[in-house]
Amino acid sequence: MQKSDFCILTLETTCDETAAAIVTDDLRVLGSVVASQEDLHRRFGGVVPELASRAHVERILPVIAETIQKANIKLCDLDAIAVATTPGLAGSLLVGLMAAKTLAFTLNIPLVSVDHLQAHIYACRMAAEKNVFPCVGLVVSGGHTSLYDCRAATEFELLGSTIDDAAGEAFDKVASMLSLPYPGGPSIQKAAEAGNPEAYAFPRAFLRDPERLDFSFSGLKTAVRYQLTGPGGADFSTLTIPAQKVADIAASFQAAVVDCVVAKSILGLAKTGYERLCVGGGVAANAVLREALAREAKKGNWELITAPLALCTDNAIMGAIAVEKMREGVVESLLLDIRPGLVRQK
Ligand code: KG4
Ligand code: ZN
Repeated sequence: MQKSDFCILTLETTCDETAAAIVTDDLRVLGSVVASQEDLHRRFGGVVPELASRAHVERILPVIAETIQKANIKLCDLDAIAVATTPGLAGSLLVGLMAAKTLAFTLNIPLVSVDHLQAHIYACRMAAEKNVFPCVGLVVSGGHTSLYDCRAATEFELLGSTIDDAAGEAFDKVASMLSLPYPGGPSIQKAAEAGNPEAYAFPRAFLRDPERLDFSFSGLKTAVRYQLTGPGGADFSTLTIPAQKVADIAASFQAAVVDCVVAKSILGLAKTGYERLCVGGGVAANAVLREALAREAKKGNWELITAPLALCTDNAIMGAIAVEKMREGVVESLLLDIRPGLVRQK
């Protein structure tokens, strides 16, 4: 590392990945580590919050140590500590925050708070290696499906969001109905490769409503359920679903999600007048969604920036947004607290 580098350790423990990265003030990544808890939660078919926080406690120090080692620096070379404090699982967020406060206090360096959703969009800034603001920001993850008017890296206004389930949550639940492995998104994408996306006409909420920038995936989830069990609602574990039906349902479900996400993103661009869409979050890794957005971008002559796969799911590189906050002079005291829930910004 050059001596003049200002470097920040960023921590990410909002959900079920324990992640740390070291980034410089000119947005170079010196080291990054993500410890996934997928194996831990797989047999429950979803994230178990208490298990997640305990796993963060076990992993946070080794993850930080490995990141420091990868970056080839010493703890005392750090100039600031950043940590994602909102939104997320309370127990998980607390582990990251306590680690960050301890380091900031003992090293006597500034503490920076990161908004996890803004960070998901900032992953696009990191990938693009150029300024991407202003833009419409789309966060499609396991916990969130929201569109933002991103005037600047840290200045977001909510344009619309899901009124019930997040897209990723729907992927995970539908995968579990189809007895596909957790996490559901990649499993559905894989199963859908052998399926017909037009086999089932699943609902697409608000698709033709030009006034609403919101999403809803709970009806879609129920439609898949009824397709499998009939209105009575049998126990999924007793169902034997033919492989072709699994593939067709997966493909039709995926197509319905993609149609809604693409349509509302285009509407967001029309409403704001921006010509750039930045997409982040775990579901942004979906190949069919990426292709559909790329097709529309070409057709509509707007710029599409999707985070690369490794930066779609939770990671700490996207916490480089802390560099922007430091530039703005926004640092925190040791009284900094977590905000697990979403504060609606509209
Ligand atoms: O951003 P993320 O790692 O965590 C949250 O902040 O929620 O997103 C995880 C979500 C999971 O629901 C997972 O099923 C979904 O992203 N996901 C995908 C794909 N890869 C991950 N969904 C659809 N297609 C994928 N290829
Ligand atoms: Zn996330």
